[in-house]
Amino acid sequence: MRAVRFHEHGGPEVLTVDEVDEPEPEYGQVVVDVEAAGVNPVDTYFREGAYPVPHLPFIGGGDLAGTVAEVGQGVERFAVGDRVYGTGLGNGMPGSYAEQAAAPADHIAHLPDEIDFIEGAALGTVGATAWQALVHHAAVDPAETVLVHGGSGGVGHLAIQLAETMGARVHATASPEHADDLEALGADEVFDYSRSDLADAVVDAGAPDAVVDLHMDQYLQFNTDVVNTGATVVGIGNDTAEGGFDNIGATKGKEVTFQFMSLFNADDLSAILAPLADLGARGELAPVVHRTYDFEDAGEAQRAVLEDSFVGKLVLEP
Ligand SMILES: NC(=O)c1ccc[n+]([C@@H]2O[C@H](COP(=O)([O-])OP(=O)(O)OC[C@H]3O[C@@H](n4cnc5c(N)ncnc54)[C@H](OP(=O)(O)O)[C@@H]3O)[C@@H](O)[C@H]2O)c1
Repeated sequence: MRAVRFHEHGGPEVLTVDEVDEPEPEYGQVVVDVEAAGVNPVDTYFREGAYPVPHLPFIGGGDLAGTVAEVGQGVERFAVGDRVYGTGLGNGMPGSYAEQAAAPADHIAHLPDEIDFIEGAALGTVGATAWQALVHHAAVDPAETVLVHGGSGGVGHLAIQLAETMGARVHATASPEHADDLEALGADEVFDYSRSDLADAVVDAGAPDAVVDLHMDQYLQFNTDVVNTGATVVGIGNDTAEGGFDNIGATKGKEVTFQFMSLFNADDLSAILAPLADLGARGELAPVVHRTYDFEDAGEAQRAVLEDSFVGKLVLEP
């Protein structure tokens, strides 16, 4: 089968399409015929060597959608031919950028017919991250206000939709050309993150009770300044928090909870993916797929996911 691998760590140019053996399902795994594989910033961290891989060459990619081709021992919930989608591959096990991938059963869920494979491949990492941030960590209540920094991004555009579905009022920041798209996805207010009066504008629109932050180096103090007392700020980005706090007293005074998270810590990704898929099937949320790429262009897709500005997700097709 064909798979996108890196034989050494480096830039997007180290990705090559290779002929490799098809995977065998280990205990608790299924083998999936991959119809589409989502592209995420984290895929580039493994490629660069910032995150460890067990061996080289290595198949990258964390997200997939496809049909079950083979079921390993100990797997009860899936059968050959089931439509599935999943996340969390490529971390200690071969990834999803391949015509077939072996996936632990607790990393996948059934994909309803209403969601096509390309959307399914786009949903895993970003949907599960938005879920962990808003449902698990921030426990957003209906009628609360949520601020999503970077609402145009993969995580951001799903967080907007999930927060709206939870009944929240949603503020988002983004490059100004994406404002209309994000309002169509459910944002009540969209702010250009480069405006100098951003904090005043957010507070005037309604102080947030929860914040999804993917750039902690820039927004630690900002978040404290704009939130309501008792707010939860969920930090998902990989920046160092070197911006720090100018005024730790304000953080104390408002009793702000800062919760940093890693999706890799989720006990059972399947238990997050299943309700997300239900929401997708009911039309409550849908990943926006900005562009699809062939495997041969995986390097260009990984460059674009870090460098280009667009709404939503990039997806590879074998
Ligand atoms: N902790 C975890 O478990 C976890 C899980 C998933 C992702 N992540 C991390 O979270 C980050 C976002 O992931 P993603 O998939 O959403 O990435 P993405 O699709 O590349 O989105 C990046 C977003 O950042 C926005 N942005 C750029 N500069 C900004 C600024 N100064 N202020 C506010 N927003 C700014 C972009 O907005 P414009 O394009 O509109 O300029 C874009 O919406 C990545 O670092 C990723 O590795 C962590």
